[in-house]
Amino acid sequence: MQLFRTPAELSGWTETARQQGRRVGLVPTMGFLHPGHLSLMKACRERADRTVVSIFVNPTQFGPGEDLARYPRDLEGDLDKCRQAGVDGVFAPEAGAMYPEGHRTFVEVTGLQDRLCGARRPGHFRGVATVVTQLLSLGRPHLAVFGEKDWQQLQIIRRLATDLHLGVEIAGMPIVREADGLAMSSRNAYLSAPERARALGLSRGLAAARARWTSGERRAEALRDAARAELRAAEVREDYVELVDPASLEPLDRADRPDARLLVAGFVGSTRLIDNTAVGC
Ligand code: PAJ
Repeated sequence: MQLFRTPAELSGWTETARQQGRRVGLVPTMGFLHPGHLSLMKACRERADRTVVSIFVNPTQFGPGEDLARYPRDLEGDLDKCRQAGVDGVFAPEAGAMYPEGHRTFVEVTGLQDRLCGARRPGHFRGVATVVTQLLSLGRPHLAVFGEKDWQQLQIIRRLATDLHLGVEIAGMPIVREADGLAMSSRNAYLSAPERARALGLSRGLAAARARWTSGERRAEALRDAARAELRAAEVREDYVELVDPASLEPLDRADRPDARLLVAGFVGSTRLIDNTAVGC
């Protein structure tokens, strides 16, 4: 497995692979890898001849009061996991290599970036869109793989890949969960044992809403209330509970389609967690 520390190393290697007729796949991550990330690597290997994983805690997607400084990091452990997953290359740049002195260009996906998590974390998706555009420009992969865990992020990335004519296929993969339903996340490492138990309120809330939908309920307010009751029971402080169109992320009054998406965000102590589901899955 190759380790690339500079943008030039990454772009040189992927350029050679493309010239050899290889289909190149990229899996962007911020590291502290868990089975959710590993599922993306597996999906990428099944769909591409060469798989590159990026590990970069991107400073521009963190707000001033957020957890950039304490975001969990374990590069050596991550490299082992990538090796075991059969990854061909890992790109782990320094922040200064991605944002050298004088950097002034940012990517905005208007509308999509401003609602839901974007409304609570101003500038977050601008940072995500910027770094993902940088990674896609550097690696010029045929395929890039993302998780449905970050549903809004996935829609934003689909939009920017289309709008900027990047010619990359964006694949979205299902959420990988712990046995009890908690969506896997690097931020779960912040949870104490009692908080870990309370965090189940999010996935339980989604399950309660799905159950209401299955029994015939279509009103957004009733589905959201079903989810909210579980958040309250688990003492998860709601950030938002929204029913939206899966691609445009416009709010819906009714869930007439099974792919209407219910998104939740909430705080367990000081840790902010997100989760989502199709109402009819
Ligand atoms: P990170 O949170 O490390 O996630 C990297 C990728 O793994 C994302 O596509 C995310 O949706 C996916 N992922 C995380 N948890 C998952 C789970 N439980 N099941 C399936 N997929 C999961 O998302 C980011 O990093 C960053 O914003 C990034 C896109 C790398 C830009 O900096």
